[in-house]
Amino acid sequence: MLSREENELLTQVGPGTPMGALMRRYWIPATLSNLIPKPDCPPVRVRLLGENLVAFRDSEGRPGLLDERCPHRTASLFFGRNEECGLRCVYHGWKFDIDGNCVDLPSEPPGSTLQRKVTATAYPCVEHGGIVWCYMGPPEHKPTKPDFEWARLPESHKLMSRQSMDCNWLQGIEGGFDSSHLAFLHGGVVEGDITRRPTIYEVIPTDYGFVAGSGREREDDLTFWSANVMIMPFQKSIASVPVGVHLWVPMDDENTMQYVIDFRHDRALTDEDIARETSWNGIHSENIPGTDRPIRNKDNDYLIDRDLQASGTSWTGIKGLGTQDNGIQETMGPIADRTVERLGLSDTAIIGLRKLYLQTLKDHAAGKSLPGLDPTSYQVRGSRYTAPKGAAFSANMARQISLEADLYEE
Ligand code: FES
Ligand SMILES: [Fe+2]
Repeated sequence: MLSREENELLTQVGPGTPMGALMRRYWIPATLSNLIPKPDCPPVRVRLLGENLVAFRDSEGRPGLLDERCPHRTASLFFGRNEECGLRCVYHGWKFDIDGNCVDLPSEPPGSTLQRKVTATAYPCVEHGGIVWCYMGPPEHKPTKPDFEWARLPESHKLMSRQSMDCNWLQGIEGGFDSSHLAFLHGGVVEGDITRRPTIYEVIPTDYGFVAGSGREREDDLTFWSANVMIMPFQKSIASVPVGVHLWVPMDDENTMQYVIDFRHDRALTDEDIARETSWNGIHSENIPGTDRPIRNKDNDYLIDRDLQASGTSWTGIKGLGTQDNGIQETMGPIADRTVERLGLSDTAIIGLRKLYLQTLKDHAAGKSLPGLDPTSYQVRGSRYTAPKGAAFSANMARQISLEADLYEE
């Protein structure tokens, strides 16, 4: 349970908000590289942290991200002409490069000094793992470029998709760290046996976020651990096989873009892997063509099949692991009212997540260093493994989530 003030503090991400300012200290996904596939291709709209932006790729292949409003009279640059290393507004022809410089201003008389004084709001971009990442914070704090294991892998080793969610980003990532829902919400899809639910819950803070452990003691004197990794500001590396990575990127306070990546670090994904991950049991939801909106969405009650629900083969009657997750999170409303909830022991990781954000907001306000800005700190991946019964989670966790760990206990 949170106070109304805390709930607002954690969920509001627009310009000028504390959480919005904190998120602007990190490199965050703006769009998929393949949506701006080649030099001078059409720009795409980007909604990010409550700002309307346009992403484009200039003649030299460099990605750029500008405020959608033209600095002249605020017409939309989405309709602009992307040509000769800049985006030209179609209203009066003013043209801006990826750094926001006005490189042509043909509507003013010769000799005008206006061009030198005009700049567009531009955010620096880098490409990493098929995603265009941007930095929207103070230039003097721009961190080292992102460097994630999954992003370094060859295309053959991973599968990536994204979908929009009709709710606040915090609901998304809290759902990601909800340890006990697997056996219920996903009943009939994965681990659909409530006797296999975890009974031990741990959160270990790290210098990139935390590791949440959920353990189930087995009859063979071993504890089966799931170690789920949280990397600031909103990334989760999942204790699954293949390993899944989710990022819940806030578009604004009531909309989220979820990026989903599955990967094997040790080999290419097989046809079988891909078929499983994209089947209705998989995490990737099928979108309305040409959009990021899932076909099974809030407006059609996620195509719930009550006969399927009654049949016992699916707990929810909703097809799709990802749809079940995102759908149930959306049912809490655009921004969940955390003043009325009742948390239990199985919500340990969710409580840990809120503590991390509240503490990091304080540290940010006090000018202290922030977790997860140094890429060397987060060279880890989610893992599941067995350890002797009674051994503390912290005793084996660091080794199991290191990139050297090669254990895939399926
Ligand atoms: S509004 Fe864009 S050039 Fe005039
Ligand atoms: Fe789930």
